[in-house]
Amino acid sequence: MEKKIKILGIAGSLRKSSFNRGLLRYAAESAGPEAEIEIFDLAPIPLYNFDIEADLPAPVKILKEKIIKANAILLVTPEYNYSISGVLKNALDWGSRPGKDNSWDGKPVAIMGASSGSHGTARAQYQLRQMFVTLNMHSINTPELMVSSAKEKFDANGNLTDEKTKERVKVLLAALIEWTKLLQRR
Ligand code: FNR
Repeated sequence: MEKKIKILGIAGSLRKSSFNRGLLRYAAESAGPEAEIEIFDLAPIPLYNFDIEADLPAPVKILKEKIIKANAILLVTPEYNYSISGVLKNALDWGSRPGKDNSWDGKPVAIMGASSGSHGTARAQYQLRQMFVTLNMHSINTPELMVSSAKEKFDANGNLTDEKTKERVKVLLAALIEWTKLLQRR
């Protein structure tokens, strides 16, 4: 049997009942036989500071090791003021340092996001795609998974309850797995 594709899943919210953390949890539970998703919690990651780059904080070292070992990345973004959260941006910045040691380089990536608003993180997701240019991450284009009106699709603990969204998560994962295999064959 072929080795499972290792996907590192990162959600850009620290909120306990976060919709985005819930979306990622559902993805991890439904990854299927071909892939496994490890969830990385961003809570211990300190704020980026050039002055501490030379002696990387331990949680940042762990993050970078996990990015490097992963075959693919799944980023789950909230939308804050039409952009991604500071928590997620901070992790992307750390992963791209120190100096030119960019751990994200060449990684296949998929994105999804949930928001209480009607645009379902669309604006944040397009900003994220722009960052993939400088990070040199290879994003799947379709499907796009933007979960709007999240309060109606998750329970009070942030667990995904909406059946249509569950199906869309599975379709997104299947696309990421195919994309990762395609890039591995290069
Ligand atoms: C928001 N929210 C929000 N929603 C949206 O659709 N577009 C936006 O621009 C914003 N802006 C925004 C700014 C700030 C500072 C906060 C705290 C919130 C609402 C946001 O979608 C909602 O809080 C989600 O619940 C955040 O995701 P998690 O924490 O549930 O994963």
